[in-house]
Amino acid sequence: MKIKLLNVGRLPPALETRLGQTHDMTTLAKEQDPEAFLAAHAAGFTALVSSAAVGVSNDVLDRLPNLKVISNFGVGLDKIDVAHAQACGIAVGYTPDVLNDCVADTAFGLLLDIARGMSAADRYVRKGQWVQGPAFPLGRKVSGARLGIVGLGRIGRTIARRSIGFDMDVRYHARKPVADAEWTYEPSLAELARWADFLVVITAGGPATRHLINEAVLNALGPDGFLINVARGSVVDETALIRALQDKRIAGAALDVFEHEPEVPQVLMQLDNVVLLPHIASATRETRQAMADRVCDNLQSFFAEGRLLSPA
Ligand code: DGY
Repeated sequence: MKIKLLNVGRLPPALETRLGQTHDMTTLAKEQDPEAFLAAHAAGFTALVSSAAVGVSNDVLDRLPNLKVISNFGVGLDKIDVAHAQACGIAVGYTPDVLNDCVADTAFGLLLDIARGMSAADRYVRKGQWVQGPAFPLGRKVSGARLGIVGLGRIGRTIARRSIGFDMDVRYHARKPVADAEWTYEPSLAELARWADFLVVITAGGPATRHLINEAVLNALGPDGFLINVARGSVVDETALIRALQDKRIAGAALDVFEHEPEVPQVLMQLDNVVLLPHIASATRETRQAMADRVCDNLQSFFAEGRLLSPA
Protein backbone atom coordinates (compact mmCIF):
# COMPACT_ATOMS: atom_id res chain seq x y z
CA MET A 1 0.00 0.00 0.00
CA LYS A 2 1.38 3.39 -1.01
CA ILE A 3 1.56 6.12 1.61
CA LYS A 4 -1.11 8.78 1.22
CA LEU A 5 0.63 12.10 0.64
CA LEU A 6 -1.07 15.50 0.50
CA ASN A 7 0.72 18.11 -1.60
CA VAL A 8 -0.10 21.67 -0.57
CA GLY A 9 3.01 23.34 -2.03
CA ARG A 10 4.29 24.54 -5.38
CA LEU A 11 6.69 21.82 -6.42
CA PRO A 12 8.87 21.49 -9.51
CA PRO A 13 6.91 19.35 -12.01
CA ALA A 14 9.55 16.58 -12.02
CA LEU A 15 9.32 16.26 -8.23
CA GLU A 16 5.53 16.21 -8.37
CA THR A 17 5.68 13.40 -10.95
CA ARG A 18 8.22 11.48 -8.89
CA LEU A 19 6.22 11.76 -5.67
CA GLY A 20 3.10 10.77 -7.61
CA GLN A 21 4.82 7.55 -8.64
CA THR A 22 6.13 6.61 -5.20
CA HIS A 23 3.15 7.78 -3.15
CA ASP A 24 -0.61 7.93 -3.37
CA MET A 25 -0.44 11.70 -3.77
CA THR A 26 -3.16 14.32 -4.00
CA THR A 27 -2.30 17.87 -5.00
CA LEU A 28 -4.81 19.94 -3.08
CA ALA A 29 -4.77 22.87 -5.51
CA LYS A 30 -5.86 20.54 -8.33
CA GLU A 31 -9.00 19.46 -6.48
CA GLN A 32 -12.13 21.18 -7.71
CA ASP A 33 -13.21 21.98 -4.17
CA PRO A 34 -10.19 21.73 -1.85
CA GLU A 35 -12.33 22.45 1.25
CA ALA A 36 -14.80 19.67 0.45
CA PHE A 37 -11.93 17.33 -0.41
CA LEU A 38 -10.30 17.94 2.97
CA ALA A 39 -13.58 17.53 4.80
CA ALA A 40 -14.08 14.12 3.17
CA HIS A 41 -10.54 12.73 2.98
CA ALA A 42 -8.27 14.49 5.52
CA ALA A 43 -8.08 11.50 7.86
CA GLY A 44 -6.45 9.35 5.18
CA PHE A 45 -3.22 11.34 4.94
CA THR A 46 -0.14 10.46 6.97
CA ALA A 47 2.30 12.62 5.01
CA LEU A 48 2.29 16.15 3.62
CA VAL A 49 4.64 17.89 1.22
CA SER A 50 4.95 21.63 0.78
CA SER A 51 7.40 24.25 -0.44
CA ALA A 52 9.16 27.10 1.34
CA ALA A 53 7.16 29.82 -0.43
CA VAL A 54 3.81 28.24 0.48
CA GLY A 55 4.27 26.33 3.74
CA VAL A 56 1.13 25.07 5.44
CA SER A 57 -1.29 26.78 7.79
CA ASN A 58 -2.09 25.50 11.28
CA ASP A 59 -5.71 25.40 10.13
CA VAL A 60 -4.86 22.75 7.52
CA LEU A 61 -2.61 20.85 9.94
CA ASP A 62 -5.37 20.76 12.54
CA ARG A 63 -7.67 19.09 10.02
CA LEU A 64 -5.27 16.20 9.35
CA PRO A 65 -5.67 13.99 12.45
CA ASN A 66 -3.37 11.20 11.25
CA LEU A 67 -0.59 13.31 9.81
CA LYS A 68 2.84 12.08 10.91
CA VAL A 69 5.29 14.00 8.76
CA ILE A 70 5.79 17.15 6.68
CA SER A 71 8.50 17.23 4.03
CA ASN A 72 9.27 20.78 2.94
CA PHE A 73 10.91 21.66 -0.39
CA GLY A 74 13.24 24.41 0.78
CA VAL A 75 15.31 25.47 3.74
CA GLY A 76 12.98 28.28 4.82
CA LEU A 77 10.43 27.21 7.41
CA ASP A 78 8.89 30.62 8.03
CA LYS A 79 5.57 29.54 6.52
CA ILE A 80 5.27 26.49 8.77
CA ASP A 81 4.61 26.73 12.50
CA VAL A 82 7.16 24.06 13.39
CA ALA A 83 6.48 24.26 17.13
CA HIS A 84 2.75 23.74 16.53
CA ALA A 85 3.39 20.81 14.17
CA GLN A 86 5.72 19.16 16.65
CA ALA A 87 3.27 19.71 19.49
CA CYS A 88 0.75 17.79 17.35
CA GLY A 89 3.26 14.95 17.00
CA ILE A 90 4.11 15.81 13.39
CA ALA A 91 7.77 15.58 12.35
CA VAL A 92 9.02 18.33 10.02
CA GLY A 93 11.72 17.74 7.42
CA TYR A 94 13.35 20.28 5.12
CA THR A 95 16.28 20.70 2.72
CA PRO A 96 19.19 22.45 4.45
CA ASP A 97 22.85 22.38 3.33
CA VAL A 98 22.27 21.37 -0.29
CA LEU A 99 21.54 24.97 -1.28
CA ASN A 100 24.29 26.73 0.70
CA ASP A 101 26.59 27.13 -2.28
CA CYS A 102 24.02 28.49 -4.69
CA VAL A 103 22.53 30.98 -2.24
CA ALA A 104 26.03 32.17 -1.32
CA ASP A 105 26.92 32.43 -5.01
CA THR A 106 23.81 34.54 -5.60
CA ALA A 107 24.65 36.78 -2.65
CA PHE A 108 28.05 37.45 -4.16
CA GLY A 109 26.59 37.88 -7.64
CA LEU A 110 24.22 40.51 -6.27
CA LEU A 111 27.00 42.15 -4.28
CA LEU A 112 29.24 42.46 -7.35
CA ASP A 113 26.33 43.61 -9.48
CA ILE A 114 25.17 46.41 -7.19
CA ALA A 115 28.74 47.55 -6.41
CA ARG A 116 29.86 47.72 -10.03
CA GLY A 117 26.50 48.54 -11.56
CA MET A 118 26.49 45.51 -13.85
CA SER A 119 22.75 45.29 -14.47
CA ALA A 120 22.60 49.07 -14.90
CA ALA A 121 25.59 48.90 -17.29
CA ASP A 122 23.82 46.21 -19.30
CA ARG A 123 20.79 48.52 -19.63
CA TYR A 124 23.15 51.37 -20.62
CA VAL A 125 24.68 49.31 -23.44
CA ARG A 126 21.31 48.03 -24.68
CA LYS A 127 19.92 51.56 -24.81
CA GLY A 128 22.82 52.65 -27.03
CA GLN A 129 24.09 55.06 -24.39
CA TRP A 130 27.69 53.83 -24.70
CA VAL A 131 27.79 55.31 -28.20
CA GLN A 132 26.14 58.59 -27.26
CA GLY A 133 27.55 59.05 -23.77
CA PRO A 134 27.55 60.26 -21.01
CA ALA A 135 30.15 57.85 -19.59
CA PHE A 136 28.84 55.12 -17.32
CA PRO A 137 29.29 56.13 -13.65
CA LEU A 138 32.16 54.64 -11.66
CA GLY A 139 31.41 51.72 -9.39
CA ARG A 140 32.52 50.75 -5.89
CA LYS A 141 35.54 48.44 -5.47
CA VAL A 142 34.62 45.12 -3.89
CA SER A 143 38.02 43.57 -3.16
CA GLY A 144 39.24 44.58 0.28
CA ALA A 145 35.86 46.03 1.35
CA ARG A 146 34.05 45.42 4.65
CA LEU A 147 31.40 42.73 4.59
CA GLY A 148 28.78 42.60 7.34
CA ILE A 149 26.70 39.44 7.49
CA VAL A 150 23.36 39.34 9.31
CA GLY A 151 22.82 35.72 10.35
CA LEU A 152 25.70 33.27 10.51
CA GLY A 153 23.97 29.96 9.85
CA ARG A 154 25.09 27.50 7.24
CA ILE A 155 24.58 29.90 4.33
CA GLY A 156 26.00 32.89 6.22
CA ARG A 157 29.21 30.94 6.84
CA THR A 158 29.40 29.95 3.18
CA ILE A 159 29.07 33.62 2.21
CA ALA A 160 31.81 34.53 4.68
CA ARG A 161 34.09 31.89 3.14
CA ARG A 162 33.41 33.23 -0.38
CA SER A 163 34.77 36.60 0.76
CA ILE A 164 38.29 35.18 1.20
CA GLY A 165 38.78 35.38 -2.56
CA PHE A 166 37.94 39.07 -2.39
CA ASP A 167 40.24 39.81 0.59
CA MET A 168 37.28 41.22 2.47
CA ASP A 169 37.16 42.02 6.16
CA VAL A 170 34.17 40.14 7.63
CA ARG A 171 32.06 40.73 10.73
CA TYR A 172 28.68 39.27 11.58
CA HIS A 173 25.63 39.86 13.72
CA ALA A 174 23.49 37.09 15.16
CA ARG A 175 21.46 36.69 18.35
CA LYS A 176 24.60 35.34 20.01
CA PRO A 177 28.19 34.61 18.96
CA VAL A 178 28.51 31.47 16.86
CA ALA A 179 30.87 28.90 18.38
CA ASP A 180 33.96 28.26 16.24
CA ALA A 181 33.24 31.19 13.93
CA GLU A 182 36.50 32.78 12.86
CA TRP A 183 34.89 36.13 12.11
CA THR A 184 34.34 39.04 14.50
CA TYR A 185 30.97 39.06 16.26
CA GLU A 186 29.16 42.40 16.41
CA PRO A 187 26.43 42.35 19.08
CA SER A 188 24.79 45.51 17.72
CA LEU A 189 23.20 45.27 14.28
CA ALA A 190 23.32 49.07 13.90
CA GLU A 191 27.05 49.04 14.66
CA LEU A 192 27.60 46.29 12.10
CA ALA A 193 25.70 48.35 9.53
CA ARG A 194 27.73 51.45 10.40
CA TRP A 195 30.98 49.50 9.96
CA ALA A 196 30.04 47.62 6.78
CA ASP A 197 30.40 48.64 3.15
CA PHE A 198 28.14 45.72 2.19
CA LEU A 199 25.48 44.35 4.53
CA VAL A 200 24.29 40.90 3.47
CA VAL A 201 21.10 39.63 5.09
CA ILE A 202 20.84 35.86 5.41
CA THR A 203 18.93 35.28 8.62
CA ALA A 204 15.80 33.13 8.93
CA GLY A 205 12.44 34.76 8.22
CA GLY A 206 9.40 34.72 10.51
CA PRO A 207 8.03 36.93 13.30
CA ALA A 208 11.30 37.03 15.28
CA THR A 209 13.19 38.77 12.46
CA ARG A 210 10.38 40.83 10.91
CA HIS A 211 11.71 44.28 9.92
CA LEU A 212 15.04 43.63 11.61
CA ILE A 213 16.50 45.83 8.89
CA ASN A 214 14.64 49.03 9.70
CA GLU A 215 15.16 52.73 9.13
CA ALA A 216 17.74 53.03 11.92
CA VAL A 217 19.83 50.18 10.50
CA LEU A 218 19.62 51.64 6.99
CA ASN A 219 20.67 55.05 8.28
CA ALA A 220 23.60 53.41 10.02
CA LEU A 221 24.60 51.69 6.77
CA GLY A 222 24.79 55.17 5.33
CA PRO A 223 25.11 56.81 1.90
CA ASP A 224 28.10 54.67 0.87
CA GLY A 225 26.66 51.36 2.10
CA PHE A 226 24.90 48.65 0.10
CA LEU A 227 22.22 46.22 1.28
CA ILE A 228 21.97 42.69 -0.14
CA ASN A 229 19.01 40.52 0.87
CA VAL A 230 18.99 36.79 0.10
CA ALA A 231 17.00 35.87 3.23
CA ARG A 232 13.32 36.74 3.31
CA GLY A 233 11.52 39.90 2.27
CA SER A 234 9.95 40.13 5.71
CA VAL A 235 13.35 40.77 7.33
CA VAL A 236 13.62 44.18 5.64
CA ASP A 237 11.13 47.02 6.17
CA GLU A 238 10.52 47.55 2.45
CA THR A 239 8.87 50.95 2.90
CA ALA A 240 11.84 52.20 4.91
CA LEU A 241 14.19 50.72 2.31
CA ILE A 242 12.44 52.49 -0.56
CA ARG A 243 12.62 55.81 1.29
CA ALA A 244 16.32 55.28 2.05
CA LEU A 245 17.03 54.48 -1.61
CA GLN A 246 15.05 57.45 -2.89
CA ASP A 247 16.75 59.82 -0.46
CA LYS A 248 20.15 58.25 -1.24
CA ARG A 249 20.60 57.57 2.47
CA ILE A 250 22.08 54.25 1.33
CA ALA A 251 24.06 53.69 -1.87
CA GLY A 252 22.00 50.81 -3.22
CA ALA A 253 20.23 47.52 -2.63
CA ALA A 254 20.31 44.14 -4.35
CA LEU A 255 17.31 42.00 -3.54
CA ASP A 256 16.37 38.40 -4.28
CA VAL A 257 13.36 38.53 -1.96
CA PHE A 258 10.47 40.91 -1.26
CA GLU A 259 7.83 41.49 1.37
CA HIS A 260 4.89 40.51 -0.84
CA GLU A 261 6.30 38.16 -3.48
CA PRO A 262 5.82 38.02 -6.37
CA GLU A 263 4.69 41.65 -6.09
CA VAL A 264 7.62 44.03 -6.43
CA PRO A 265 6.83 47.69 -5.70
CA GLN A 266 6.76 49.72 -8.95
CA VAL A 267 8.85 52.40 -7.32
CA LEU A 268 11.75 49.92 -6.87
CA MET A 269 11.63 49.12 -10.56
CA GLN A 270 12.14 52.77 -11.40
CA LEU A 271 15.30 53.15 -9.32
CA ASP A 272 18.69 52.54 -10.87
CA ASN A 273 20.50 51.91 -7.59
CA VAL A 274 18.77 48.54 -7.12
CA VAL A 275 19.11 45.05 -8.54
CA LEU A 276 15.96 42.92 -8.45
CA LEU A 277 15.83 39.13 -8.75
CA PRO A 278 12.72 36.90 -8.64
CA HIS A 279 13.75 34.80 -5.59
CA ILE A 280 16.17 32.58 -7.51
CA ALA A 281 19.03 32.22 -5.04
CA SER A 282 18.80 28.42 -4.97
CA ALA A 283 17.44 28.05 -8.49
CA THR A 284 20.01 25.99 -10.36
CA ARG A 285 19.30 22.60 -11.93
CA GLU A 286 21.84 20.92 -9.66
CA THR A 287 20.60 22.44 -6.40
CA ARG A 288 16.91 22.05 -7.16
CA GLN A 289 17.59 18.39 -7.99
CA ALA A 290 19.41 17.95 -4.66
CA MET A 291 16.50 19.66 -2.86
CA ALA A 292 14.00 17.37 -4.59
CA ASP A 293 16.09 14.34 -3.64
CA ARG A 294 16.08 15.47 -0.01
CA VAL A 295 12.29 15.88 -0.01
CA CYS A 296 11.94 12.27 -1.19
CA ASP A 297 14.71 10.93 1.04
CA ASN A 298 13.18 12.59 4.10
CA LEU A 299 9.88 10.82 3.43
CA GLN A 300 11.55 7.51 2.61
CA SER A 301 13.74 7.59 5.71
CA PHE A 302 10.85 8.64 7.97
CA PHE A 303 8.60 5.77 6.93
CA ALA A 304 11.39 3.15 6.64
CA GLU A 305 13.46 4.05 9.70
CA GLY A 306 11.29 6.36 11.74
CA ARG A 307 13.61 9.33 11.39
CA LEU A 308 14.05 12.22 8.99
CA LEU A 309 17.35 12.80 7.22
CA SER A 310 17.01 16.55 7.83
CA PRO A 311 14.68 17.26 10.74
CA ALA A 312 13.74 20.86 11.59
C1 DGY B 1 14.31 28.23 0.50
O1 DGY B 1 14.75 27.10 0.34
O2 DGY B 1 13.76 28.59 1.53
C2 DGY B 1 14.45 29.17 -0.62
O3 DGY B 1 14.18 30.46 -0.25
C3 DGY B 1 13.53 28.72 -1.72
O4 DGY B 1 14.15 29.03 -2.88
